[in-house]
This record gives sequence, C-alpha cells and structure tokens, in this order.
Amino acid sequence: MRAPPDLTPCGPAADLDSVLEFVHEDLRAVESALVEGADSITTLIPQIAEYTFGGGGKRVRPALVLLGARLFGYAGPRAIRIAACAEWLHSASLLHDDVVDQASVRRGRPSANARFGAREAVLAGDFIYSVLCRALVEDGNREILSRFAQTIGEMAEGEVLQLGRSFELDIDEDTYLQVIGSKTSSLLATAIESGAILAEAKPDERRAAREYGWQLGLAFQLVDDALDYSGTREELGKAPLTDLAEGKVTLPLLLALRRASHAARAELAARLEELAAEAGAGREPSPRSMAQVAERVRRYGGVEATLERARARVDEAIAQLEAFEDGPARRALAGLARFVVARRR
Ligand code: IPE
Ligand code: IPE
Ligand code: MG
Ligand code: MG
Repeated sequence: MRAPPDLTPCGPAADLDSVLEFVHEDLRAVESALVEGADSITTLIPQIAEYTFGGGGKRVRPALVLLGARLFGYAGPRAIRIAACAEWLHSASLLHDDVVDQASVRRGRPSANARFGAREAVLAGDFIYSVLCRALVEDGNREILSRFAQTIGEMAEGEVLQLGRSFELDIDEDTYLQVIGSKTSSLLATAIESGAILAEAKPDERRAAREYGWQLGLAFQLVDDALDYSGTREELGKAPLTDLAEGKVTLPLLLALRRASHAARAELAARLEELAAEAGAGREPSPRSMAQVAERVRRYGGVEATLERARARVDEAIAQLEAFEDGPARRALAGLARFVVARRR
C-alpha cells in the first residue's frame, strides 16, 4: 500500500512552529504551568526554573504528549499537566547533563551551571524531579506514573553507560544505540504513549505510538550527535564538539573510524589518545587535536552517514503512523518527524 501524501518521509520539512500550530494554545498553557509548578520556599529554585524555562527550547516532548492525546481524541487539562511533566523531566535531566558534560552554553546563553553554579544547578534539577513526581501522583494514572518512573531510571542508566565508555573507540553500534535509546528515546516514547493512555487508546495503538516515539528519539539523538560535529554555536545554542571534548564516542566518530584507511585510523586514534590523556590530567582539550579529529570525522563522511541512519529511523517512525486515522494530529506527528532530520538547532 502506498503511503498517503502527508506521510511521505522525505516531504519538505516545515518549520517547527507551523508543525505544532495545531497544539499552539495548549503549548502556551504548558509554558505557564512550567514556571508556576516550580514554586518553592527558596528564592534560588524559582530563579533557576525561570531561567531554564524562559530560555527557549523546542518543546518537542510536551508536544508529543499533546499530540498523542489528540491522535486518539483527547484534549483537556490532564494532557497539559502531563505535557508539563515531560518538559520538567527533560529540563531537570539537562540541568544535570550540563554539569556532567561541563557544558557552559545552553539555549544560546550561559548554562544554569555556568550562571548559578554546578551545585545549585544539580539541586534545582532534583527539585524539578520532585515537581513532576508530585504532578504525576496528583494526576493519579498508575500506568503513566509507571512509564515516567521507568524512564527516569533509563535516562540515568543511559548517561552512566555512556560515561563508562568514555574515549573507548571500539564500542559497537548496538551499544551506542542502547545508550541513545535509554537517554533520549525512552522519554520521547513515554511522552507520546502517556498522551495515548490519557485518551484510552487500545493496546496496539499505544504500542505503535510508543514505537513512533522510540524511533523518533533515536533519530533525534543521531541528529544531535551529527550536529555536534557540523553545527555552529549560533545554530545550536550550545557549544559544538562538546561530545568530543568530553570523550563521548558517538556515531559520527565511530563511522568515520570505520571508513578511514588503516593509516588514517591510526592517526585519528593517536589524536584521541592525546585528548583522553588531557582529560585524564584535568587539562583543557587541545584545540588543535579537537579541530583535527572533527575535520577527519567530516572528511570520512561520519556526519553524513549518521544523518543517513537518522533518516532511516524517521522513515520507521512515520511508517507507524499509517495505523492511525488521518487528521491534524497525525499530520503534525509526520511533520515533527521530518523536522527532526532537517533541523539545525
Ligand atoms: C537536547 O534536547 C538533549 C537531547 C536529547 C539531544 P533538545 O534538543 O530537545 O533541547 P531543547 O529543549 O530544544 O533545548
Ligand atoms: C542528551 O545528551 C542528554 C539527555 C538525554 C539527558 P547530550 O549530552 O548529547 O545533550 P546535549 O547535546 O548536551 O543537549
Ligand atoms: Mg550534554
Ligand atoms: Mg549532544
């Protein structure tokens, strides 16, 4: 069966605002909930929350909750609250991730750890985790609560797994996929499935929605890892080559190593060893080694091959949508998938 036109994977990618126009009003309600929910007896926590939520961000995860609910016919205040939970979880994980990755720029300005201090950012992240747990308990759906609980654990496991493989050049693609599945897909899958649960979708519909979210998450992180080598600070709102500086061996590097000649691979490995030694000694990575590795990753096609993998994942995500009725929610989900591979931010 031919896919209907709105499900063509390589159709033109619209900008994110037009893709999400259908849930624009709901997303505005989510925005107010985000800051209001982080109220506290301290002055610092709301300050960090306002800074974090006021700093932009694409809001892909809350949009997935809202669209998952709409896809199966639910729109209402519970979807707004659960959508906020998805963004709280995402932002709390980023507050911690930027400390772990020693990142100093996020969403085009100093990261919260750079602006308020690493300890402060970690503790504010902890508080935001509590905000979302309370909201989930208040909503009272055990299945949604259980999905989020599972995802919080998986995201931490993904980050820990990744940390344990720093500067290891022999990790295979399956291990890499396991890491990005845990740290990124898990939340995207939970977001859309939670919406479907709110709408009382049937088990097979829920499974297909979850699979869409999982594949979209893999594509999302593949593109993020490609952009780390090919994007600029202005486009990304965060510093490029952070993965390399931190010793994260992501797919663009793995694929470049695989494609390089024997001599070029040895040369690349030598540069990476230098970077690992510098990191081990607590020194800043040498800009020269960084630039050389990045140049070779691009030259050996690591970025393009990673984007190719991302496009295949997006095709799989979009194929899941064929099971659902056509309508604005399904069209938005197809558009979101196309945005994910075309994005530069
Ligand atoms: C960044 O997520 C972390 C990853 C999973 C790659 P986003 O790219 O969705 O970040 P914001 O929310 O738009 O800033
Ligand atoms: C995503 O990984 C972090 C989480 C999913 C928690 P990255 O470390 O690649 O995200 P960025 O690049 O800092 O946004
Ligand atoms: Mg990071
Ligand atoms: Mg990244």
